[in-house]
Amino acid sequence: MLIHRRDFIAALSSLGLAQWLQPGAKAQPATRSLQQLAGQKGLLFGSCLALKYCVQAPEYQQLFLAQCGIATPEVNMKWNSLSSQPGIYDFATADRFVYFCARNHLQVRGHTLIWHDALPAWVAPQLNAENGRKMMTDHIAKVAGHFAGKLYSWDVVNEVLDPASPRPDGLRETLWLRNCGDDYLELAFRTAAAADPKALLVWNETYLEVSNGFGQNKRTAILGLLDRMLQRGVPIQGIGLEAHLRAEQAAVLGDASYEAFLGQLARRGMKIFITELDVQDVTLPADPQARDQAVAAVYNKFLTATLRQPAVGGIVTWGLADRFTWIAGYRPRPDGLPVRPLPFDANYQPKAAYYAIAESLQSAPPRG
Ligand code: XIL
Repeated sequence: MLIHRRDFIAALSSLGLAQWLQPGAKAQPATRSLQQLAGQKGLLFGSCLALKYCVQAPEYQQLFLAQCGIATPEVNMKWNSLSSQPGIYDFATADRFVYFCARNHLQVRGHTLIWHDALPAWVAPQLNAENGRKMMTDHIAKVAGHFAGKLYSWDVVNEVLDPASPRPDGLRETLWLRNCGDDYLELAFRTAAAADPKALLVWNETYLEVSNGFGQNKRTAILGLLDRMLQRGVPIQGIGLEAHLRAEQAAVLGDASYEAFLGQLARRGMKIFITELDVQDVTLPADPQARDQAVAAVYNKFLTATLRQPAVGGIVTWGLADRFTWIAGYRPRPDGLPVRPLPFDANYQPKAAYYAIAESLQSAPPRG
């Protein structure tokens, strides 16, 4: 079905979504730094990064350093990037990343210690119920110990819930759960705290931000697990909401139940971060301006609701400019047009999404 741009924009307004830059608007005000706007409110703003992008495109490096105060290594701290043989680690690329950030006054979000994905090929065949806990804790001690004192935070565990899980606690069936036992999250956080007492220890998770049945199940599961672990003194200090959003989810993003959930996390003493924000445009019409409007509206609705919660400490997008985005491979458009999920376009120019993010930062209440 062909959707005309005018009808599409009218549909956005009917969902209560504002318009960002009239289609055809030419003059754009000078681009202000999102990190500066965030900093004025006591917030952090940043993005994931791979240093190879800076080598390929020096303009990208310039943009990144102008806009960001914090960076997440997109791949370089994952287990399969650090260790191609059992027990042997090569930190050279990750060290370069940390050094680049330190030199350029960027804080670093360590990502990620325990995940069922991005594992070296040797892990699964070696892992069993006898050595599971040791393999997991050795890895955490080695990696968190290597960077100790240098990182803002660690994503200690990544994507560990499954709303379709048959288990009452909602934990995803992974090789870690199978081989390390039901309390492996507790063990992971305690080991990370011992290895790097300075980094803020975060549980990074998908889909908590989406107010549908799937998301609600995850919210119930995380609150239950958190309560049990906090009672036992487990050092969990933050929750990361990945927020790989889709433009068609506008109706189930940033609503009252989401804000209530953020309040429940805050009451449990959690710092909250948006850790991997992007907005997929794969189901939107081809017209780039219409797409940019819809994407921007989702950014603004979601972030405005998020930033009303004082426990939210920062926003990290999963890429800054459409030239370098994992969405190109993960959710390509069926019509083959380049995807436009990020605040800057493939030529590093600000898009409607940039203005939408800037506006949400400007209207955010300042942190204490
Ligand atoms: C993605 C990277 O962006 C890709 O380059 C890589 O090929 C796969 O991983 N959740 C996460 C991130 O926690 O680490 C993932 O990053 C995206 C989904």
